[in-house]
Amino acid sequence: MAPADQIRLLLVEDVPQVAQYVRGLLNAQSQVRLIDIVSDGTQVIGRVVEHRPDVIVVDALLQGRLKGMQLVKQLHEAKVGVPVIVLTVPQNPVEVDPHKGIADVLSMPFNGYDLMSRVTGAHKAAAAANDKGPSRLVVVFSPKGGTGKTTIAFNLAVAAAGQGVRTALVDANIQFGDLRGLLRAPREAPSMLDLPTDRISETDLIDVLWRGPADIDVLFAPPRIEMAEMVLTRDLEKTISLMRRLYDLVIVDTGVGLDELTLALLDQADTILEIVTYDATTIRNTIAMAETFQKIGYPPSKVQYLVNRADASAGIDPADLRQALGREPEYKIRSEGPIVGPASNQGAPFVTTEPNAGVSRDVIEVARQLVARAGGPARGGQPELAAAR
Ligand SMILES: Nc1ncnc2c1ncn2[C@@H]1O[C@H](COP(=O)(O)OP(=O)(O)OP(=O)(O)O)[C@@H](O)[C@H]1O
Ligand SMILES: [Mg+2]
Repeated sequence: MAPADQIRLLLVEDVPQVAQYVRGLLNAQSQVRLIDIVSDGTQVIGRVVEHRPDVIVVDALLQGRLKGMQLVKQLHEAKVGVPVIVLTVPQNPVEVDPHKGIADVLSMPFNGYDLMSRVTGAHKAAAAANDKGPSRLVVVFSPKGGTGKTTIAFNLAVAAAGQGVRTALVDANIQFGDLRGLLRAPREAPSMLDLPTDRISETDLIDVLWRGPADIDVLFAPPRIEMAEMVLTRDLEKTISLMRRLYDLVIVDTGVGLDELTLALLDQADTILEIVTYDATTIRNTIAMAETFQKIGYPPSKVQYLVNRADASAGIDPADLRQALGREPEYKIRSEGPIVGPASNQGAPFVTTEPNAGVSRDVIEVARQLVARAGGPARGGQPELAAAR
C-alpha cells in the first residue's frame, strides 16, 4: 500500500511488552503504520501536533503524571480531532462513548484482526464525518420485528417537521410496507416503483411523494407483496441519495432482518437508529448485530440505540441491556398503549394529536436531538418540488 494511503497510528503505551506486541502485529501488514510510541502522557498533545496521526490508541492503565483516562479526556477537551481507541483489560471495563472522545475500545487479549478492524473502523468513521457533514439520513432498524420501528419513524418525522426541518420519510420495508396502511393512503398512491430506473430527477420525485401530516413527504413501498422483488437496491440507493440532498432529514423505516437492501441502506446511513426493547430475544439479537456491524467496519458512533417501551422492563434488569449494548442507550421512549394504539388505528401522529402525553414528549425529545445532529432547523419550508402538488 502506498504510504499516502496508510493510516498513521500513534500508540500511547508505557508497558514495553505491550508496545512490542502491537509493533509486531503492525509489522505484518501495510495498511496501518505505527508512527510513534509515547510512554509519557504529558507529551502526547505535543506529538499529535507534530505527527498529525489519523488514529490514537491509548492504554487506559497508562501510569505517570497523566493517567490513561485523564489523557483521553484531555485529548477530547483539546478537540484534537483524531479518533481515540482505548486499550484496556477485562478487569477494567471501559465503555465506548463518542461524547467523551472514546471512539472504540480494544480489550486484551486481542489479535491482529481485532486491532486492524478497530483502527480502520475508527479512521473510516472520522473521515466520513469530515466529508459528509451533518447526519441527514437516519435509518430506523431493529434486530427483531414488532419493536416499534414504523411507529417511531413516522412520529419522529412528524416531530422533526414540527421543529421546522424539511423532512422526508421512506418506507423501505418493501415487502410489508407499513406506512401506506398507517397513513391511509390508497393503493393507487405511487410508490418507489413508479420512479424511472436510470436517472432520477427532482421532478420525478414530485410525482411519487405523498404529502403526509405536518407536511412530511413520504416515499411508499410497493402496494403489493409480490412487487417487492422489482425494487432494485441500486435504484433505491440513488433515490435516497437525491432525497438526502433535498431534505434536511430523511428517515427510513426498514423491515425485519438484514437482507441485501437493508444492508445497503445501513451502509448509506449517517445514523442507524437501532430500536431495542426489554426482551431476551432482542437483547441476544442486538449483541449479534453489534458484532456484525463491527465486522463490517461500522464505528460504534454510527449506531444510536433507542429503547422503546423503556418503562416496561418485563423482569429484565436495565443493567443487562446496558451490558449488551456496551454503553448507555442514547434514547428512551416509554410505553403508552392508550395514546399509541388509538393514534395508530387512526393513522394519526400522536406527537401532534397528543403532544403533552409522556410518549409524545419522549419522541419529540429524540427528534430534537436528531435534528441537532442533522445540522439544525432549515431556513425554508419543504422543497418547492413537493410543495407544488
Ligand atoms: N412506545 C409504545 N407504547 C405503546 N405501544 C407501542 C409503542 N411503540 C410501538 N407500540 C405498538 O407496538 C406495535 C408494533 O409497532 P410497529 O408496527 O411500529 O413495530 P415495527 O417494528 O414497525 O413492526 P414490524 O417489524 O412488523 O415492521 C404497534 O401496535 C404499536 O402501536
Ligand atoms: Mg414496521
